[in-house]
Amino acid sequence: MNPQEIISKHKPTQDNLLNILHDLQNNNPENYITTDAMDLVARYLNMTKSSVYGVVDYYSMLSLKPRGRYIIRICVSPVCHIKKAGGIISHLENTLGIKTSETTPDKLFTLEVAECLGQCQEAPSMMINEKVYNNLTEARIEGIIAQHK
Ligand code: FES
Repeated sequence: MNPQEIISKHKPTQDNLLNILHDLQNNNPENYITTDAMDLVARYLNMTKSSVYGVVDYYSMLSLKPRGRYIIRICVSPVCHIKKAGGIISHLENTLGIKTSETTPDKLFTLEVAECLGQCQEAPSMMINEKVYNNLTEARIEGIIAQHK
């Protein structure tokens, strides 16, 4: 389905902006929203291009640049921080060979940091796409990453 077809599935009201943007991103194999797609959304919803761009830029769940097939979001909020999420991030960076906000050369993984994932009782936590992983340890990280290769 091309971007125009995706956009046309939604009613042309500005209330649908976020739904449309998520739909576009979820249907892009590179997990981001292209400039052309944002232009189409602006025209469809009778908004300025800059206001659509501003929304995409504001929401951390939306991306303006190509990302990997799997988006890893590691929580850096206080409870996870206290429970050594920093060490988990370093381990992920070493395992994947990238820093946060980067994508592996094979375009399989993008590593991002996130605010509280609502899993504090089982911190440290991360998400890979829509799935949550809790009680992370370096050993668990190895297994989880291996499952996605
Ligand atoms: S602080 Fe990490 S899940 Fe809440």
